[in-house]
This record gives sequence, C-alpha cells and structure tokens, in this order.
Amino acid sequence: MVKMSVPRVLLVCLGNICRSPMAQGLFEHHARRLGCQAVIDSAGLADFHVGKRPDARAIEAAKARSIDIAHLTARQVMDHDFYRFDQIFAMDMANLSDLRARQPQDSMATVALVMGLVDPLGGPAAVPDPYFGDRSGFETVIEMLDQAASAWAAQVTLAHKGG
Ligand code: 4NP
Repeated sequence: MVKMSVPRVLLVCLGNICRSPMAQGLFEHHARRLGCQAVIDSAGLADFHVGKRPDARAIEAAKARSIDIAHLTARQVMDHDFYRFDQIFAMDMANLSDLRARQPQDSMATVALVMGLVDPLGGPAAVPDPYFGDRSGFETVIEMLDQAASAWAAQVTLAHKGG
C-alpha cells in the first residue's frame, strides 16, 4: 500500500474572523468524525483583524453546532502558506483572485473556491461575507461551510483508503 501524507488545508477569507475560522472548525470537526488525520488552518488576505479572536457571531454559530472556535486567532496569509499547504480554499471570487495573484510559480498548492467541494459541476457558489449583516447571515454561511467540510472529509477519507 502506498503511504499517503497527511493532507494540509488552508481556509482563506478576507478578515479571518468570520468565514474562515468557522470553516476551520467545521473541517476539523468532519476530519475527526471520519477519523482522518489532517493539518487544517485558516488565514485572511487583509490585516485588519490580525491577532483578534473570531467575531462573536461566528463563535456563537459554531457553538450552536458544538464546535468551539473561540480560541482561534486571526492571521494574514503569508508566502510560506503556498508551500506548506496542499489545498487552499477561498470563500469568494475576490479571495480566489487575490490568492492566485499571490501564489508563487513554484508552489504546488491547488487554489479553489471552497464551495466547489459541494457542486463541482454546477459552478461553485461564493460564501457570502456575513460581517456587515445580521446573525442570519452567519447561519447561512455555517450551513454552506458544513456541507463543504463534510464533502472534503469524505473525499480525503476515500483517497486515503485508496478508493
Ligand atoms: P471574513 O469577514 O472575511 O469572513 O472574516 C470580514 C471581516 C471583517 C471585514 C470584512 C469581512 N472588515 O472589513 O473588517
């Protein structure tokens, strides 16, 4: 049997206080649920919130699904991330094009929209930025990300079983 390395995934949004920390918590949750080892992290493209905890509404939405993200700390994407991670998932088209513009030529990481995990043929949707909206926006986002995280964990588990 070929030994596969542990998958390394980075979830990226703009501020790293709303969407990508929720995504990180959900990816970790589904990896654990399926017994799959992975390195999972999140980062933001902007530096507005570096060093801060996730937005209280994001913490609350995750907690409602028994996922604790209160300990996470916002950080900015760095060049090293393009070498350290195999898969980098963006929340929306702006994140995707910023990441593609920054990706060094010799980086082997795949950079894609996170919702492509759920509907690769239907044209992946953007995960809307909930920051300036109300709590219901966080509910929409966490539901979308739950589907993406579940699909990702299933794919990784299958790949590691050689399926
Ligand atoms: P995120 O949301 O990219 O999902 O973390 C945002 C957080 C903060 C801002 C924008 C989006 N902001 O403009 O401060």
